Amino acid sequence: MADNRPIGVFDSGIGGLTVLREIIARLPSESTVYFGDDGRAPYGSKSHDTIIRYSLQDMAFLEGKDVKMIVVACNTASTHAYKALKERSKVPVVEVVYPGARAAVEKTRSGRIGIIATNATVSSGLYETAVREQAQILLNEGRNTEALDKLSIIQQACPLFVSLAEEGWWDDEVATLAAERYLTPLKEFGVDTLVLACTHYPLLAGTISKVMGPDVTLINSGVSVASVVERKLRENDLLSDGMNVFREFYTSDDASKFESVASPFLGSGLPSGTKKVTVDHFEVGV
Ligand code: DGL
Repeated sequence: MADNRPIGVFDSGIGGLTVLREIIARLPSESTVYFGDDGRAPYGSKSHDTIIRYSLQDMAFLEGKDVKMIVVACNTASTHAYKALKERSKVPVVEVVYPGARAAVEKTRSGRIGIIATNATVSSGLYETAVREQAQILLNEGRNTEALDKLSIIQQACPLFVSLAEEGWWDDEVATLAAERYLTPLKEFGVDTLVLACTHYPLLAGTISKVMGPDVTLINSGVSVASVVERKLRENDLLSDGMNVFREFYTSDDASKFESVASPFLGSGLPSGTKKVTVDHFEVGV
């Protein structure tokens, strides 16, 4: 039987829309509810406990919308809070780290992989571990061995990218200056594959690509996450029949700012009807 409940997607702000866009493109018959916690962003500078509490509150809000799946469209929340979210959720939870790590080890030809992310993601070390684990899986299967035998990883936190993305300054000279400063060490390291391990960063992909040059492949995990969402819906018999599809948007900050910054990216008149909500009243026991 079809399940027409929506998929719930959350992020600290507008970054998760880079994942939502891929979910809509791949699964247009699924309804979606998006929550961006712009009022409390950035998560990337917060402590482990705070990231867990905020993430559980975000999930509690989405659960109130009767969602059939939770997509943690935030690498910072995925690295710090996935375990807690999964333990407490009654519906399947999809995170964004493993799909991105997998795409990176499949794409690299030189084995030199760069990971750019928030401070909290970089310091957790979890993304690098995920890339190494996925590389080992491919090596065991005898795939991409020439590159992965000499796997070498460099990480860089780019915290200003989140503010630039939230401000809508994606392609201007301020973004270029910040990108040159953050990315020069990765260019010197000779990465051939760069993981955008923060869902805000694909919004700056044009600038990042200009600085890194045409030979560097950028990994936007959104595409891989959407395929995981489809697989999990299928496995759990949760696919909708496409009747009465709707898209809802919520933010914890100013709704019109959210819409004006996000609409050039999302297109098709979205986001629309965004409502401002607060989620800090949810008691999550952390
Ligand atoms: N978009 C988020 C991520 O993927 C977090 C950005 C932030 O709030 O610092 O990590």
